[in-house]
Amino acid sequence: MEWTVFKLISWTESYFARHRIDSPRLTAEILLGFCLGIRRLDLYLQHDRPLEKQELARFKTLIQRRKNREPVAYITGEKGFYESSFQVRPGVLIPRPDTETLVEKTLAVLAEDVQKPSVILELGVGSGAVVISLAKAHPGALFFAGDISRVALDTARKNADREKKIGKIHFFNGSWFDPLVPRPFFDVIVSNPPYIPGSHIPGLAPEIRDHEPITALDGGDDGLDCIRKILVRAGEFLVPGGHLLMEMGFDQRAELTALAMNFPEFDTFDFIQDLAGQDRVVHFKKKID
Ligand SMILES: C[S@@+](CC[C@H](N)C(=O)[O-])C[C@H]1O[C@@H](n2cnc3c(N)ncnc32)[C@H](O)[C@@H]1O
Repeated sequence: MEWTVFKLISWTESYFARHRIDSPRLTAEILLGFCLGIRRLDLYLQHDRPLEKQELARFKTLIQRRKNREPVAYITGEKGFYESSFQVRPGVLIPRPDTETLVEKTLAVLAEDVQKPSVILELGVGSGAVVISLAKAHPGALFFAGDISRVALDTARKNADREKKIGKIHFFNGSWFDPLVPRPFFDVIVSNPPYIPGSHIPGLAPEIRDHEPITALDGGDDGLDCIRKILVRAGEFLVPGGHLLMEMGFDQRAELTALAMNFPEFDTFDFIQDLAGQDRVVHFKKKID
């Protein structure tokens, strides 16, 4: 039988469905488009194109990788987030749509309450999706971004280099604030730290558990270890009236409310919900005096 684009998409869709792979048709289309180096739309314009032997062999390898639960973004090396596309690779967290709430709230804070030019820090930069999205919207601001993972930093740097219209982002390696001199320098500190309780990791989907970096996920016994570490020191680095925004688990509001009482340097904190109404971001504002 001759394998055309259309036949191959249909066959792969049912193969993925049998193996309980999410969105089987979409996944088949993305992988075939990637394999042939064409856009998804073009697959349908070329639906009766027969595949060459080598293309077929390459596609079979991609199908097997996905069947073994490797995330699509690691296979294609690319993930869309907010208004851009970012390179990703094993060792670097794949940016999530959930994190767009953090970007949107940070942009709202910058628009409403921060004098220009502003100085912004991201802790735990990963692929760079958050800081680069902010930098695209604020080309005049000064950005700093750190991560403990050199693979993440290398990827974030490459992603920043691909953007022509952003200013310089100063990347640094190390644990949270450790590489920085403590002084009130930043108008905004933003972070999507690891916040999954360690005991929940074994129950995660194999795509995440077996493929994404544990250092990007594991937030310790109650999930709040990294959030606590950032909260303890953020006040030293924020200007008076500065903002700290962190992504959080949808069910961590009560624990975070209790935790917030220990940090009188912040005079307000609030929670921001995603479109589904779930708490996704906690936002602290440092006292002015
Ligand atoms: C949940 S990921 C977020 C990545 C990216 N900002 C995003 O939203 O897609 C958390 C990031 O924090 C980094 N990280 C974990 N522990 C860290 C530490 N002690 N200091 C700095 N970064 C850390 C991880 O390497 C990972 O890149």
